[in-house]
Amino acid sequence: MAYENLLLEKEDRLAILYINRPKALNALNNATLVELKDAVLKIKADPEIDLLIISGAGEKSFVAGADIAFMQNLTAPEGRAFGALGQEVFRLIEAMEKPVIAAVNGFALGGGCELAMCCDFRIASTKAKFGQPEVGLGITPGFGGTQRLARLVGLGMAKQMLFTADVINANEALRIGLVNSVVEQTELMDVVKGIARKILSKGQLAVRFSKVAANEGMQTDIDRGMTIEADLFGLCFATEDQKEGMTAFLEKRKPGFTGK
Ligand code: CAA
Repeated sequence: MAYENLLLEKEDRLAILYINRPKALNALNNATLVELKDAVLKIKADPEIDLLIISGAGEKSFVAGADIAFMQNLTAPEGRAFGALGQEVFRLIEAMEKPVIAAVNGFALGGGCELAMCCDFRIASTKAKFGQPEVGLGITPGFGGTQRLARLVGLGMAKQMLFTADVINANEALRIGLVNSVVEQTELMDVVKGIARKILSKGQLAVRFSKVAANEGMQTDIDRGMTIEADLFGLCFATEDQKEGMTAFLEKRKPGFTGK
């Protein structure tokens, strides 16, 4: 599939996906979601790629939300289907075993904040702005915002953001735990790539098992979570990476992980 609304770069085990609709500040219409789904499925299946970074093309916007012009005249069933598509694509990103980092370079509003939230963690530039402005348009968030925001920043802060539609800056997003760090715009991609390279230097099966255990643990009680962890911890001992990682430590050398 040729992409009209995405840019995809690949560099040595790393994929960088930019949402690219400059005329609408990278807002997500149906076509962009279909392309995003296609790209994510390909990255998920690509044995040469171990980590995905998602960002917005240009200086101003990560994603300014779902496309309001596209949504304006939708019927209730059409609105539901559009929301379901966004939810499906974002859940695919969240559940993909390979790590996904959001490099938030500007506006992350509505569907943009929701896209950032389905990633494993978020690094923001000083220019980033976050919010769920949907109630100001007479709608609720529809791509997972009512569910993920509370899980990330707590129910009280999430409800205040959802009910007021307030837009917060990067430092406030840092304070409430919505992003992990804030860096200068010009340094954003280098910082995120640096974090990505550090992750890529580790045992990738262990990284993926950690993601699965953390994600699944958030959906269940602590005892079931411990069972999930115990199973995956045990599975690590069937991998070459575990043998290599521990042997390298004991031989006082750097490990050469193969992801097997
Ligand atoms: N959908 C469609 N077009 C959008 C858009 C969106 N979400 N956001 C921006 N645009 C378009 C504008 O209409 C404008 O187009 P024209 O040049 O053709 O007029 C262009 O992008 C530039 O935008 P502005 O002129 O508004 O730029 P600004 O710098 O003055 O403001 C902004 C930037 C504060 C982000 C403002 O554009 C804005 O408030 N955008 C809407 C944000 C929003 O409400 N997002 C939530 C959408 S609903 C949603 O996401 C539902 C869901 O959960 C699934």
